[in-house]
Amino acid sequence: MCIDRLAQKLAREHTLNDDEYLALLQNRTPELADRMAELARAAREPVYGTAVYTRGLIEISNICKNDCLYCGIRRSNGNVERYRLEPDVIVACAHQGYELGFRTIVLQGGEDGFYTDEVLAGIVERIVATCPDTAVTLSMGERSRTSYQRLFDAGATRYLLRHETATRAHYERLHPAQMSWDNRMRCLHDLRDIGYQVGAGFMVGAPYQTMEHLVTEMRFVEQFKPDMCGIGPFVPHHDTPFAHEPAGTLELTLFLLSMIRLIHPHVLLPATTALGTIDPRGREKGMLAGANVVMPNLSPVAVRKNYQLYDNKICMGEESAICRGCLARRMESVGHHLVVDRGDIKR
Ligand code: 5AD
Ligand code: FES
Repeated sequence: MCIDRLAQKLAREHTLNDDEYLALLQNRTPELADRMAELARAAREPVYGTAVYTRGLIEISNICKNDCLYCGIRRSNGNVERYRLEPDVIVACAHQGYELGFRTIVLQGGEDGFYTDEVLAGIVERIVATCPDTAVTLSMGERSRTSYQRLFDAGATRYLLRHETATRAHYERLHPAQMSWDNRMRCLHDLRDIGYQVGAGFMVGAPYQTMEHLVTEMRFVEQFKPDMCGIGPFVPHHDTPFAHEPAGTLELTLFLLSMIRLIHPHVLLPATTALGTIDPRGREKGMLAGANVVMPNLSPVAVRKNYQLYDNKICMGEESAICRGCLARRMESVGHHLVVDRGDIKR
């Protein structure tokens, strides 16, 4: 079958067999990418139009017990100045975000034992009580089912936990032996069962990633159907074992964004900060490939330099208000517009 027919088949049926996924990935050309992006925007149109949802991201702690090989704030990186934000500071950042028009607040951090269920639930309750019609999203790593339940009961309704890779053997090459792919999957299923809107995702061009792995990623999106799928290029961090590995490419990331949109037209698809890091117009290009979410930083400027998962991260010195204005202009430049909205998935 000619490649354009495969693209049309994906748009129509939202699934391909493994060989077809592989053929699409292996026969990428600039023309095919344009075609995929066009189909992806058409699939998004009836669901979200050209509205772009924003999530205000507060990086609450860079202290982490894990040692993921790709991550700049891994435990064994002794060159990071460690910090954690106090609950009052986090709530103040959320309020500032609310004033700026954010209706989703994401609390993200390393797996830091300071944020017990009690502490985290307290913060969630305060934000829920004071920010009307705002969704509180957590991105605090792997926790027990009881913990996820407790935080859901406190008012958190969404959870972001990238699966990182849908292939167990690949997961084991990106993480130390103490971490397990099974537990990662257990977490995602628990979160879904409890009732969270769940975000999963993976890095494009992660070390050892093959095209066959990407076929497995597409199958995972098809089968697990995450509400959000966060994909961005792998970007090396100089203080990690992967310091000298090549970064993922803009081209492949955009192509995968389009594929994911076609598989799951309703998915929330962020144009990530990592995408904006490898290309000055990466996020705008992400929208044109079918993305519909951006997640600017609401962290206090003083701590931002210490939350570097990868090198050259953008927006390190920008006040939150500047970032929102900047993004609004960037989105307008490609015919999209930021909206003040919780940005729930439309099912
Ligand atoms: N490059 C790109 N993304 C990274 N992440 C962690 N380290 C890197 C890196 N070096 C991503 C992971 C994680 C998310 C918070 O950031 O996918 O889940
Ligand atoms: Fe942060 Fe442009 S998005 S300054």
